[in-house]
Amino acid sequence: MIEFDHLAKTYTSQKHGDVQALTDVTLSVPDGAIQGIVGPSGAGKSTLLRCLNLLEQPTGGRIVLNGDDLTTLSSADLRAARRRIGTVFQHFELLHSRTVADNIGLPLELAGTERKEREARIAELVELVGLQGREHSFPSQLSGGQQQRVGIARALAARPDVLLCDEPTSALDPATTSQILDLLVHVNRSVGVTIVLITHELGVVRRICTHAALLDRGRIVESGSVVDLVTDAGSALGQLIAPIPAALAGRPGVALITALDEAADQPWLSELARTFGLDISVVAGGVEQIGERHVGKLAVDFGADVDRARIEAYFADHPQVHLAWLDRLHAPATDIEEELA
Ligand SMILES: Nc1ncnc2c1ncn2[C@@H]1O[C@H](COP(=O)(O)OP(=O)(O)O)[C@@H](O)[C@H]1O
Ligand SMILES: [Mg+2]
Repeated sequence: MIEFDHLAKTYTSQKHGDVQALTDVTLSVPDGAIQGIVGPSGAGKSTLLRCLNLLEQPTGGRIVLNGDDLTTLSSADLRAARRRIGTVFQHFELLHSRTVADNIGLPLELAGTERKEREARIAELVELVGLQGREHSFPSQLSGGQQQRVGIARALAARPDVLLCDEPTSALDPATTSQILDLLVHVNRSVGVTIVLITHELGVVRRICTHAALLDRGRIVESGSVVDLVTDAGSALGQLIAPIPAALAGRPGVALITALDEAADQPWLSELARTFGLDISVVAGGVEQIGERHVGKLAVDFGADVDRARIEAYFADHPQVHLAWLDRLHAPATDIEEELA
């Protein structure tokens, strides 16, 4: 588990004075999670990540990785701790004079791993990321997606506990993005590595993250498991990940109904209509794929004079289906939404 505990970072520079990049960041990332950190530009995402990979010293609070406080390490312990955290960069950051194999093996070389062991590990990693046959190519001979595969393999070389990804697909086209996201999921499952992924793209969160946190102006505004967020009609982040049409917000008698997995495909809506003899109209929605789960979201118009208590009692008996009246929804965070769109 990674625990950010009241983490703070203030940059001090002659030119700009003090910049409070992180103010009070508290967040727990469970083992094996794919934790998305989303937020507009300047929110502090990269700062958070550089604090975690020990490139930046926080000015307050702690980061605890599997029980070890990373913020109070001696310089010898710091070097060892860095190996527990692999980083994948937006622009790959490969060494252009080195082959694929030698780029992947670099962290092992630096750690003093013997040649034989290194070569065996490189072969494993080449296979894991699907670069068989390209071991002796140079980065300039590879596509962007292949270069990012090298970046991912290199980050995993020293068997880290955590894989940090800073906008790992922002330099890639949509088809390649999709393949790299699939690879990250594959790596997460097969190696069991926890992933912390920084992105300004909600589509990335929707597609692969198990957990998400919204960072804005140096603070965590909201966080939780993606499924909890998208099924909680009061969650602004949930609405960003799986939006409902803004035109519906605030309409009396309209409820947002969410259902997970099998429940998403069941005819509970017609059952509800039958039970109450209601003439229900579905105004918007459908079943969406969120990671591996199906999340059904429907905006349903029960009519302005509906007896809410009766409907709520029905949903209390059906815990796999969630109900929220749209006039009680939080206003969507439109400024953040525009930036993240
Ligand atoms: N090395 C630095 N020195 C001074 N200010 C910085 C430095 N790095 C980032 N900042 C400032 O900290 C804030 C957060 O930046 P950053 O972490 O890069 O945000 P994000 O990655 O979300 O775009 C911004 O106001 C940025 O200008
Ligand atoms: Mg950044």
